[in-house]
Amino acid sequence: MRVIVLISGGGSNLQALLDDRQGYDIVAVMADRPSAGGIARSLAANVPTICLPLTAPRIPIARTAWENTAADLLTVWHPDLLVMAGWMRIMSPSFINRFRAIINQHPALLPPDDGPTVTLPDGRTIPAIRGAHAVRDAIHLGLPVSGCTIHRVTEAVDVGPILAQQSVPLLPGDTETTLHERIRAVERRLIVDVVRTLAAEL
Ligand code: GRF
Repeated sequence: MRVIVLISGGGSNLQALLDDRQGYDIVAVMADRPSAGGIARSLAANVPTICLPLTAPRIPIARTAWENTAADLLTVWHPDLLVMAGWMRIMSPSFINRFRAIINQHPALLPPDDGPTVTLPDGRTIPAIRGAHAVRDAIHLGLPVSGCTIHRVTEAVDVGPILAQQSVPLLPGDTETTLHERIRAVERRLIVDVVRTLAAEL
């Protein structure tokens, strides 16, 4: 299976995939900002790496041109799967529909529908935290538990069929950094499992 990984940050999940590559190849990596630490990881692994910054995110015509360029570049590698591993851009349906399959990681528990709450195994409900600050929001809301979700990307934001999910309890004194690091550790394991499974099913 031919996989492209999209990153915006440090790329520890990208590294987990680079270290694995069981049943799949990582044919390219794309970053949307030069500061993304993951760029060094893909270059070190000799994986073709594109950095395509979005310089005017609020100007619709510039954003559309950027998305079209990104899609044109990525299709050159004929990917079977795009993995958004810490990718912090919301992509429009015209981008999403150009690819066979896209999955996203989200550092919180999401419900199986687009509802506002998640039901925990013990019957308690917690808010579904969507958006770019899910770890910070979990702490501010004082949730007992958060977690991570890997889901297929659809045209809606942080909604789509769930492929894997695991809860991560909050601990006394947790900061955004400590909680996010524990969530990332789980995410790295889940993303490798999901991509291996999708590769086996192809
Ligand atoms: C992950 O927690 C992912 O869910 C979130 O950004 C983080 C990426 O971490 N969207 P890394 O860059 O792979 O270390």
